[in-house]
Amino acid sequence: MSGKVLILGGTGDAARLAAILDLDPRFAVTTSLAGRTEAPKKLPGKVRIGGFGGIEGLIETLHRDKTDILVDATHPFAAQIRRHAMAAATEANVPLLRLERPAWVRQRGDRWHEVDNLAEAAKQAPKLGRRAFLTVGRKELAAFADIAGVHFLVRLVDPPSAPLPLADFEVLLERGPFDETEELQLLRARRVDLVIAKNSGGEATYGKIAAARALKIPVLLQRRPPLPPGYAPAATVETPEAAMAWLDKVAKE
Ligand SMILES: NC(=O)c1ccc[n+]([C@@H]2O[C@H](COP(=O)([O-])OP(=O)(O)OC[C@H]3O[C@@H](n4cnc5c(N)ncnc54)[C@H](OP(=O)(O)O)[C@@H]3O)[C@@H](O)[C@H]2O)c1
Repeated sequence: MSGKVLILGGTGDAARLAAILDLDPRFAVTTSLAGRTEAPKKLPGKVRIGGFGGIEGLIETLHRDKTDILVDATHPFAAQIRRHAMAAATEANVPLLRLERPAWVRQRGDRWHEVDNLAEAAKQAPKLGRRAFLTVGRKELAAFADIAGVHFLVRLVDPPSAPLPLADFEVLLERGPFDETEELQLLRARRVDLVIAKNSGGEATYGKIAAARALKIPVLLQRRPPLPPGYAPAATVETPEAAMAWLDKVAKE
C-alpha cells in the first residue's frame, strides 16, 4: 500500500517523523501546523498551515485529500486538536496514530511543585520566588496577569505583537533546543529563583529542569491535561522511530 499520511505537527517529534517518512517512497507526507510561529522551521514533505475549522473541517480535509493515516504528533498540552483528531479520524474511518513523548519524571534533588493548571501556578508563584523564568508560551501568560512581587523572565519564539499581560517582565527571544549548560548560565546570569514550565517531556526543553535541580531552584510544573473521554487511537507511540515502525507494519498489511 502507498500511504497518504497527514501529521498534525508543531513539535520536534512531528518534524523528525516527517523527515523519516519523506525518505520512504511508499509514503506521501503532509504536515499540518496551527500557524502559531511566524517563521516555522522548514519541514520535509508538504506543509499546510492554519486550523481546519473544527472537527468538521478536519473530516473534510481527510476525505478531500484521501488521507490513509492520521498521525497526531501535536504537543501534549494541545488538548483541543487531540480531541478533534480522535473525533475526525473516527468519523472519517481513518486510523489514528498518536505520537507523544513521555512526561518528565521527578529525579532525586528536584524541587517540583506540580499543579494542574496555570492559575494554580500563578497562585503559588509569589510564595516560591521573586524572579521567575516563565516558559509556558505566549498564549497562556494571562494566567499571571494579577501577580505582584514577581519579576517574570519570559522566553518566546516570536516578538510579541501586543504588550504582554504581565506587571513586571522582560522578554527573551530564543528558539530551542536549550541544553543544561546554556540554561544554567541563563538562570545564574538573570538570578532566577523559580522556574515555571509545562511537563512537556523530551530532551529539547529539559535543560531548564536539570539546571533548576543543579541550582536547587523550585520548579512550578504543570501536569499534562487528562485524555479526553473515549480517547482510543489505533496506537500510541513515544518516538518518531516507533511511529515509523507502526506505519511500516500498516503499510505491509
Ligand atoms: N500547547 C502548547 O503548550 C504547545 C507547545 C508547543 C507546541 N504546540 C503546538 O502548537 C499548536 C497549537 O497548540 P494549542 O495548544 O494552541 O492547540 P489546541 O488548543 O489544542 O488547538 C486549538 C486549535 O488550533 C488548531 N490547531 C492546533 N494544532 C494544529 C495543527 N497541528 N494543525 C492545524 N491546526 C491546528 C485547531 O484549529 P481548528 O479547530 O480550526 O482546526 C485547534 O482546534 C499545536 O499544533 C501544538 O502541537 C503547542
